[in-house]
Amino acid sequence: METQTKNLFTDVRGHAITTDSVAAADAFNDAADKFVRREIDVIPRLQQSLTADPGCAMSQALFGLMLHGARNSGLQPEMISSLQRARAGHAETARERWYVKALENAVTGDLFGLIDCYDNILQQDPTDLLCLVLRQGELFWLGDMQRSRRITDAVASSWNKDTPGYADYLSVRAFDLEETGDYISAESAGRLSVELASHSIWGAHAVAHVLLMQGRHDEGVDWLQGLQGNWQHTNQMKFHLWWHQCLFHLERREYDAVLDTYDHWVRNHEQELIQAVPDLYIDLQNGASMLWRLEHVGVDVDHRWIEMAELVLPRLGDMTSPFTSAHFAMILAAVGQFDDCDRLLQKMHKFHTAAEHALATRYGDAAIPAAQGAVAHRRGDYGKVLEVMMPARHNFWQMGGSHAQQDVFFQLMVDAAVKLGRRQEVETLLGEIETIGFTEPVQRVVYEAARSF
Ligand SMILES: [Fe+2]
Repeated sequence: METQTKNLFTDVRGHAITTDSVAAADAFNDAADKFVRREIDVIPRLQQSLTADPGCAMSQALFGLMLHGARNSGLQPEMISSLQRARAGHAETARERWYVKALENAVTGDLFGLIDCYDNILQQDPTDLLCLVLRQGELFWLGDMQRSRRITDAVASSWNKDTPGYADYLSVRAFDLEETGDYISAESAGRLSVELASHSIWGAHAVAHVLLMQGRHDEGVDWLQGLQGNWQHTNQMKFHLWWHQCLFHLERREYDAVLDTYDHWVRNHEQELIQAVPDLYIDLQNGASMLWRLEHVGVDVDHRWIEMAELVLPRLGDMTSPFTSAHFAMILAAVGQFDDCDRLLQKMHKFHTAAEHALATRYGDAAIPAAQGAVAHRRGDYGKVLEVMMPARHNFWQMGGSHAQQDVFFQLMVDAAVKLGRRQEVETLLGEIETIGFTEPVQRVVYEAARSF
């Protein structure tokens, strides 16, 4: 702690937290740092903060926002409890009250109101790294990385190499730049982030995205292999980085390496983090997306879909993430559970038409057609794939996810068009994939079948 007044402590960048307990403030700041760095033990540290001072509104709010970030509707009751405790807690500063309001908006599904809270915080405190990371994550899953970049552009002048956490700020900046197509600046910021702080998995991640978009697969393998030793304390994000490693191996036709990496890192129930949360949304996305791609290039993935289908079944009514729901459809279809696919789609329709939630339109405009397409593709009904997905494809960004992640749905459409011999659609789609930012998509293994057109 740098300063202490009557009951206000500050973090290393001078942002206040209201509590009378040094232990609560220290544990909160450590939790926030760990969250920013994608490290494990964020929740245990917040619990320690709350044990020391249950009235610490910031710790209560961040605890609730962590639950929101897990994108699991089963956590909603606990989020509501966190909100109640945060409202009853001490929040002497406007910043803290914005965090409590942010949690309130997360609980009610007003995700744009949630973003507004973060904007208000950053207007006042442009070096609030916790807020920058939370905000980027939220906008990422709303698909609006342009808006994410606008704020990192706006706060850039407040950051310099002497600002604590500069490397982590650079990692946020790098990913905004990458997803908005400025690959040169993104790679530079990402590499500098890792150079300054070897733990920067988010910086490593941004560079991995650049290398994939530009077709630099050999460099991608080397880049990630050289850094994976730095991720011992990292949360499930490391599994996503291993997913990226799989993408590079896939493009080099190293299918044994893909399967080996998949089994050891992407979906390995012997990993402690997978045991703790076997159905984490991004882990299931990683798994489904990689198995689909492997099958697409002709690799037998054997039994690997089954464990994910078992995890998805209890969560058909979970509408916390449109991109995840579309992957749920992919998983259930892969194991032939088409009745469950229908049940999932019915629940998605119901949420789309009945819910007062920021994601309701995103389900209708994007996730439902993507899910329908995934199911139709597995049934071999390629005409329906194009019928439902082609008119909706310009909305797919609304599901959230990166260009690299979203690409699987474009692979699905191109595959259907190739199988139907629809030259016009193939050319249109390949052109669009290039416009999205992929260099020469037709040179990639996953679009190989389109080369003959
Ligand atoms: Fe990624």
